[in-house]
Amino acid sequence: MSFHSMWAELLPIGRSSASGGYRRFAWTGADTDCRAWFRAQAESRGLRYETDRNGNQWAWLGDPAEGDAVVTGSHLDSVPDGGAFDGPLGVVSAFAALDELRTRGTRFTRPLGIVNFGDEEGARFGLACVGSRLTAGQLTREQAHRLTDGDGITLPQAMEAAGQDPDSLGPDPERLARIGAFVELHVEQGRALDLSGDRVGVASAIWPHGRWRFDFRGEANHAGTTRLADRRDPMLSYAETVLAARREAERAGAVATFGKIAVEPNGVNAIPSLVRGWLDSRAPEQDTLDAVVAGIEKAARAYAESHGVDLEVVRESFTPVVEFDHALRDELARILGQERGHPGLRVPVLGTGAGHDAGILSGSVPTAMLFVRNPTGVSHSPAEFAAEDDCVAGVLALADVLEGLACR
Ligand code: GLV
Ligand code: MN
Ligand code: MN
Repeated sequence: MSFHSMWAELLPIGRSSASGGYRRFAWTGADTDCRAWFRAQAESRGLRYETDRNGNQWAWLGDPAEGDAVVTGSHLDSVPDGGAFDGPLGVVSAFAALDELRTRGTRFTRPLGIVNFGDEEGARFGLACVGSRLTAGQLTREQAHRLTDGDGITLPQAMEAAGQDPDSLGPDPERLARIGAFVELHVEQGRALDLSGDRVGVASAIWPHGRWRFDFRGEANHAGTTRLADRRDPMLSYAETVLAARREAERAGAVATFGKIAVEPNGVNAIPSLVRGWLDSRAPEQDTLDAVVAGIEKAARAYAESHGVDLEVVRESFTPVVEFDHALRDELARILGQERGHPGLRVPVLGTGAGHDAGILSGSVPTAMLFVRNPTGVSHSPAEFAAEDDCVAGVLALADVLEGLACR
């Protein structure tokens, strides 16, 4: 099946007709449909299909027990109203690259795997990269069992409802030990390739990043009858904190975003009792990130105090800086430069502020990423886009990389 046909098959799944964006949250119906699609792609190619103890899906050519496997893939879930490309491009390109290599008659000397990591975006349970974190031992079974969505449904309940056993969650070092290289292809989430005029680039590093929950607790009261001077309104300290986050990030060359908020009781005519805001912050270096978050928290405490509001700040997740494996990165650049018959071809090497399963795995496995040009740089939005000929260039680059790695 061509890249185009696979893409067209996946496109309607989980798409909101109102926004045109995707709502493929972990262990929902849309996610189940995406997973069924993955399995069908694996089986139609005669690949050995399996779901691992953490709900990640794998398709194997050759026997992974032989070790030193080359694995590629990404994720199929999305953020709320996400784009079509973030995640699915890497999975569809993986199958398309395998098809290309079979057409070329490539003979593999290493096992080849294609993976769909579960719950990469963390849109439902608040923690990103749940499938890869569990596998790499960066999230325990107990921590995972405590994850709860906005409707109070726990991760185990959601997994059970989708037919996946939550009791098996946990580290999978044997699986990781069998992987010699992991390469994730991803749509670029910025404009570096568009600006440099290149279709494909190689990742250098991922900024350290994390998520913090800010709970501002005040006093619910009548919006019409409570004098301004008598209010303990947590919305005010939250609003001031949003502005402080912007200032701190700007000063430090970092980013800081409050993109999700929950308000109680959430009535138009009631002063809130609780405003819960989630901060996502990222910076090129750890020290900078620490300083930015500390600055935001300090400002938030001062604002909370001035409004008679209580504040609790909880770090919900954190991913340290990722520097991708230099040897593998250089090998990718060499393969893309030489084996395509263009010695010296410039392959841009890019850093990114976006998180990826590849970043989680990089602590356990030599890992690399390929980026495909995104002409607007927009991501996590229905406007996310990559032109089909750039996607096909990505497939060919991935095929060259897999051929170079798995046929040596
Ligand atoms: C995932 O895409 C993230 O960077 O949050
Ligand atoms: Mn994403
Ligand atoms: Mn992604």
